[in-house]
Amino acid sequence: MTRAERKVDHIQYALSTGQSRGTGLDDIQFVHHSLPGTSVNHISLSTEIGGLQWSSPIFVNAMTGGGGTITADINRQLGEVAAACNIPMAVGSQMSALRHTKERDTFTAARKANPDGLLFANIGSEATPEEALAVCEMIEADALQIHLNVVQELAMPEGDRNFQGAVERIEAICRRVPVPVIVKETGFGIGREAAAELNKLPVAAIDTGGFGGTNFAAVENERSKNPLSFLNGWGIPTAVSIVESAKGAPQITTIASGGLQHAEDVVKSLALGASAAGMSGYLLNILLKNGLDALIEYVEQVKNHIKVMMCALGARTISDLHHVPLVIFGETYHWLRSRGCD
Ligand code: FNR
Repeated sequence: MTRAERKVDHIQYALSTGQSRGTGLDDIQFVHHSLPGTSVNHISLSTEIGGLQWSSPIFVNAMTGGGGTITADINRQLGEVAAACNIPMAVGSQMSALRHTKERDTFTAARKANPDGLLFANIGSEATPEEALAVCEMIEADALQIHLNVVQELAMPEGDRNFQGAVERIEAICRRVPVPVIVKETGFGIGREAAAELNKLPVAAIDTGGFGGTNFAAVENERSKNPLSFLNGWGIPTAVSIVESAKGAPQITTIASGGLQHAEDVVKSLALGASAAGMSGYLLNILLKNGLDALIEYVEQVKNHIKVMMCALGARTISDLHHVPLVIFGETYHWLRSRGCD
């Protein structure tokens, strides 16, 4: 199977399986406040990450990497959604476009559709500082995402087997690129120990990329003749990962992602300590099944619902949300207790 075919496979999988709702966010409950003292009209959704002002805490997280006209078209449409809804967007891995220059259009399509919006470049932790700089320049990026995908690589028969030196390479990239760096997982979650290593580096934000939504171990296992089925349930659920990341890296802003579907998932993630929330598979599903206008409508609805919930919780800003009381049940409660994160 070629790389392009694999990318299309991933998109098909995101479409056919949907999301598992294993994020742990259903274990989180808000405590209603009967005297919130707020007004929907005075709620601010703006948030600051790495010195950049975002007008919304939600963003379209990295999806389509190189792979020809289908992925270029998806990136163009996601760019249009980001522009129409005034939300940031990250493109998928640009690694292959460094070697195959005709794949650049896949990514520049997102910038062309959204010339003035916040757009993030994306590369793996195997990249050199020069490659990182090149992917930023390719799309005039406002920030750079470095993705970590150890479990996906291990699940792929042809994937990487050597993960040494990633921390040093991330540091070198941070020192080379002129934009803030976001280190992100891809559906297996960042725990306290990994976050503590990143806390020593000039990283602007950690995107938890938690377990419970799109599952690339399961994707690769479906394609593999010798599936490593034990990896299908591997990972740190999103709710836990938000708390663990914040605890392990108190100097670094936390971004939530992994299985976020609705405004309630987003607001719970923010209340757990995240400053922004990325959505991938769920948005792609809406785009491919119901089209561009339906996705724009959905994103606008999520933004409105966030405001309604913030009003009910008495939170005027995203930072206020970090202080609203929560009750934590079930597995999430036990996980956080046993890790000393309660
Ligand atoms: C992804 N994701 C991803 N991440 C990344 O950093 N670089 C990439 O190239 C891709 N490619 C990609 C393709 C497709 C089709 C999907 C659905 C996802 C991972 C993504 O950014 C995110 O971390 C995970 O998908 C978990 O979030 P969701 O999908 O559960 O919201």
